[in-house]
Amino acid sequence: MDIQALLDGIVAELAGRRGEGKVADYIPQLAKVDPNQFGIAVTTVDGEVYAAGDAAVPFSIQSISKVFMLTLALGKVGEALWRRVGREPSGTAFNSIVQLEHEHGIPRNPFINAGAIVICDLVLAGYKPKEAIGEFLRFVRSLADDDTITIDRAVAQSETATGYRNYALANFMRSFNNLQHDVDHVLGVYFHQCALAMTCRQLSRAGLFLAARGADPIGGYSVVSEKRARRINALMLTCGHYDGSGDFAFHVGLPGKSGVGGGIMAIAPGKASIAVWSPGLNKVGNSALGTVALEMLASRTGWSIF
Ligand code: DON
Repeated sequence: MDIQALLDGIVAELAGRRGEGKVADYIPQLAKVDPNQFGIAVTTVDGEVYAAGDAAVPFSIQSISKVFMLTLALGKVGEALWRRVGREPSGTAFNSIVQLEHEHGIPRNPFINAGAIVICDLVLAGYKPKEAIGEFLRFVRSLADDDTITIDRAVAQSETATGYRNYALANFMRSFNNLQHDVDHVLGVYFHQCALAMTCRQLSRAGLFLAARGADPIGGYSVVSEKRARRINALMLTCGHYDGSGDFAFHVGLPGKSGVGGGIMAIAPGKASIAVWSPGLNKVGNSALGTVALEMLASRTGWSIF
């Protein structure tokens, strides 16, 4: 299969649709992004990297970072994590607060904002916020095998200044004793994790362990157990696109995680890790063209897990 030709074909076919969707503007810094960009990259389990379009342009990975922070937290606290966060799809928007009141401050899953905020609280145990952020950054750099990856401070600041909903979620969960640290400290970690800037190439490389049963086939080391990789993929499939998760599974058929920066990381188990980026979002807040591109790729490669 000529993956490079497939990617080039997708970029060419979608050229006339660039700019589709609506760029997230609730974080002012994200609203400044040129909506006409589109990049895609594939890293296969045998270590080949294929890329097309704007695959070397860094973008704000936003909620895609929740996959890496969950992986880090599971490594620290193990299965005890699931006493604080659930594993069910929410069927609500990424920043919804409604279920928390009836469910005793336990978020439905680690990929909605409330769940990711609890994960930050877990990673903070015994650390200062700066140390936890540093550990997270080192972890992602090691996964991507690239020390140039950075956190976009302007995005983190922009989100801190306007993150009223996240402050509400954090304070609400603190009132149920499901946060143990200062709300400002927990959100400091959360906002910086979301502000990680990566290219499609770097992101597809960083996700490779999830396609390769938990091991990094290029570096030749284990990141997580096979069982844990399978479970993270299961969560991405069921919860990775919020109330659009069912539709993403229907159209694409791969575990995936989206971010409001317009990125999506998708995993074809046993085959490859894929990253796509186009800033315009669809009605449920997932990359409009990114989803279309992944549907094209999954159907042309036969990589759907179904
Ligand atoms: O909490 C927020 O609003 C953002 N930092 C992350 C949101 C996000 O990417 C949701 N995903 N689609």
